[in-house]
Amino acid sequence: MPRGPKKLKEAAVVRETPSYTHPEAEVLLRPEVGTQAQFRKKKEPRQYRYDSSLAPQLSWDGKNWARETGEWLLRLIEEAAKLPAPHEFIEKQVLRRPDGAEIVVRGLADAVRELKALSRPFLDWAGKAERLSFQVPSLPLFVHERLSTRAILETLKGHRRSKENQHQIFELFANPKHSIADQVLKAYEHKDDWVNRLILGDSLVVMNSLLAYEGMAGQVQMIYMDPPYGVKFGSNFQPFVRKRDVKHNDDEDLTREPEMVKAYRDTWELGLHSYLTYMRDRLLLARELMSPSGSVFVQISDENLHHVRELMDATFGSENFVANIQFAKTSSSTGEHLPATNDYLLFYARDIERLKFRDVYLPKTLETEIGGPYGWVELDDGSRRRMTPEERLNPNALPKKARVYRLDNLQSQSMGREKGEGAASWFPVELDDREWRPSMRARWKTNEEGMTRLKDARRLQATETGLYYVRFIDDFAAQQVSSSWTDTVIAGFASDKLYVVQTSSKAVERCLHMTTDPGDLVLDPTCGSGTTAFVAEQWGRRWVTIDTSRVPLALARQRLLTATFSYYQLTDEKRGPAGGFVYERKQNKKGEEVGGIVPHVTLKSIANDEPADEEVLVDRPEVESKVTRVTGPFVVEATIPTPVDWEGDGIEDSGVDPRSYRSFVERMLEVLRRSPVLQVGGGKTVMLKGVRAPARTLSLSAEAFLAVTERPVAFVFGPENGAVSEKLVYEAAKEAAAKSYSHLYVIGFAIQPNARQLVDQSEAAMGVAATYVQATPDLLMGDLLKNMRSSQIFSVCGLPEVKLHRAAPKDGAARYQVELLGLDTFDPTTMEVDHRHGDDVPAWLLDTDYNGLCFHVCQAFFPRTAAWDDLKRALKGQYEDSVWDHLAGAKSAPFEAGEHGQVAVKVIDDRGNELLVVKKLEEAST
Ligand SMILES: C[S@@+](CC[C@H](N)C(=O)[O-])C[C@H]1O[C@@H](n2cnc3c(N)ncnc32)[C@H](O)[C@@H]1O
Repeated sequence: MPRGPKKLKEAAVVRETPSYTHPEAEVLLRPEVGTQAQFRKKKEPRQYRYDSSLAPQLSWDGKNWARETGEWLLRLIEEAAKLPAPHEFIEKQVLRRPDGAEIVVRGLADAVRELKALSRPFLDWAGKAERLSFQVPSLPLFVHERLSTRAILETLKGHRRSKENQHQIFELFANPKHSIADQVLKAYEHKDDWVNRLILGDSLVVMNSLLAYEGMAGQVQMIYMDPPYGVKFGSNFQPFVRKRDVKHNDDEDLTREPEMVKAYRDTWELGLHSYLTYMRDRLLLARELMSPSGSVFVQISDENLHHVRELMDATFGSENFVANIQFAKTSSSTGEHLPATNDYLLFYARDIERLKFRDVYLPKTLETEIGGPYGWVELDDGSRRRMTPEERLNPNALPKKARVYRLDNLQSQSMGREKGEGAASWFPVELDDREWRPSMRARWKTNEEGMTRLKDARRLQATETGLYYVRFIDDFAAQQVSSSWTDTVIAGFASDKLYVVQTSSKAVERCLHMTTDPGDLVLDPTCGSGTTAFVAEQWGRRWVTIDTSRVPLALARQRLLTATFSYYQLTDEKRGPAGGFVYERKQNKKGEEVGGIVPHVTLKSIANDEPADEEVLVDRPEVESKVTRVTGPFVVEATIPTPVDWEGDGIEDSGVDPRSYRSFVERMLEVLRRSPVLQVGGGKTVMLKGVRAPARTLSLSAEAFLAVTERPVAFVFGPENGAVSEKLVYEAAKEAAAKSYSHLYVIGFAIQPNARQLVDQSEAAMGVAATYVQATPDLLMGDLLKNMRSSQIFSVCGLPEVKLHRAAPKDGAARYQVELLGLDTFDPTTMEVDHRHGDDVPAWLLDTDYNGLCFHVCQAFFPRTAAWDDLKRALKGQYEDSVWDHLAGAKSAPFEAGEHGQVAVKVIDDRGNELLVVKKLEEAST
């Protein structure tokens, strides 16, 4: 397999804006988008069964498998009871259920356990009893985009394109440049270098793809899931991007208020019933992906906390419950009775016995301990006293060099050996002219020798009530984190958040530190604005994140691409983060422990005359000063399109079962009936009425009237799991023109570039004007979500106007520049074109050497936000201001021609729609 020169990989550790890569990790090669017609490795849908012990109901009447099972188990219990201990059968007994699942009983214990499970109380809801299993289509993932902040920075340096640095750029994209033949033949068989992954699609389908195509069962160390809360959250509207920084007032006129878009849908067809089905299915697949020592966190509000906990008990086993963490989401809130300020994290292990768990500590200071058990003080002269009420409230009132301490238990209730505290003993101790003994039911935590050492070290103190151990606050400058987190509120106003429902990074960070090591794999099936991916990137973990909506995915892409992080020193740079971070013991001028290794003086260490223990504060690795790290290479993938040859003779010849296509068309028709609204942009809509299936049609899927003008319009739906093909558009436009519809709407989840071209030229070429309408990918979640007028399901896509210029040559080499003139969206009601200036789109991306397959993001522009500002500040002066001006505008930085002689521009509109335009270099104007 052709690969880029390996030695360049080590270049990833260069000190100039480095990023972390994961040289030891591998992943199966996925094909690039564009090769789907050749990709033939289809797989059957996968069947998942719910745990057979979780009977949806135990009815003793009628024909019910639960009754049969119950009676079978009772008979086995009777038989096994007659056998000698341990009451095991010579051969295991097996009962096969109607759905194919098996119950296996080896003896009395198994039979009793199964019977108990059968009669356990359970959560029931509409639709649960009917489904003992479910099927998920097995779809491959295609790589759509490759991104690398370092590649963008390198490209902007504007050095000559040579064979050598051409490879280097590919290496920065972590793209070994597989040939098309390799991609098709070796996809999902050969290993490739690991890259982090942002995936568009329904988490159920994507997780199934990871399992079915990539065999990733048992490989994920931690899953963080922040699903919709299932509470009809009607207010999750937000502008896709806000203008954060207005530099030139006169530009303001150019820029309209960004459109409010629905971030994602949280209204469920059968309310809580659909929601519980949605959650149960996804949790089941999540469990399959988890490593034996892995863990899962589900973020949820108090409204459905109890239901989700029931589901998790049922899926993971109540014995694998680790904690219910409550974390502060806001510092204040209003409500009728007790306002809610917390959200919850349900934390389960895949197997509690094997759970990977790292203690996480919070700093312990006088301030954090105010009013707590630390109520005593030792003064500079060695005298000791209680703290005054004023000192307890204000540590600044303490005398200089005072050491604060608390009295702690010196006795252990256990009658045997106290874990780690030396031999437990019962003997008299003399102090302050009194003799002290443990109570009859207890023992000292150390032996006589140890007690003498504690006394010599002035670690004993007697009060009226007993003898105690003196624990100074600085014995250990940290404290173990509990299940109540109060420091997780996102600072600033709600509007400062990138995403309406953005999770606090601190909460995710803590979960990550508790349950993973650098280099481990983290999965978030509910990406949103990418908080988990961001935190995983920050801490050198590998990540995969999934979302079914385009807006959050676009936000996550932008957030990751423009992020800056500290460079944590690696113990072995060749191994990457998997080799671990460097931790050191350090003190500041005040003598406070500020390093990642902190001494921990304990009763045991003093009593046994041992050096103090040392704890590692995992979140305090050594930082390489003056080095700005950026996000490592990552890819954008999607389940769309699938292994279907849409270039064939239409649906019938495509390999898709025409019956399943028809049922998909019927479902889409129903969605269009219930939600007869097309979003045009700028908050405008096209209303439809009389949506129905056309009589005697060859290629059209639906017809309707425009509500305002009453003109008849036709629709064609692209495939469920594929891109709209040119052929589909051609056939539909031919029929729409022949039948005199005034307009054709082509509705799809994705569209091939040549099909898009035909749509835009349809009026001239086919005699009927056509418009491409993007459907939200969450429709693929089937009938779980409610489709209403307000659902924002269909959005009319605009057409970017792109100009390719010849720029001034440099060192004799021809150079080019791309200018985004704007985005035109046709409003079929008013028959007017809405023009949005290039400076006024949320984002656009440029591939300066487009190979017709995967889009390599060589330059990324965020004209409406100050997205690059942090990086610009961090890299002070390394690049000329003009470079940053380009990245915040509508005209690219100059670039040299690549080997493919064409460029691609991807424009992202306010609704997260992606619009691709390809230009040949020979089209460049001077
Ligand atoms: C509450 S938000 C997550 C916010 C995220 N924690 C953050 O910090 O930005 C839930 C996300 O789950 C996504 N989602 C809902 N159902 C999904 C599904 N079936 N597959 C993938 N993503 C889904 C929604 O589009 C939404 O972006």
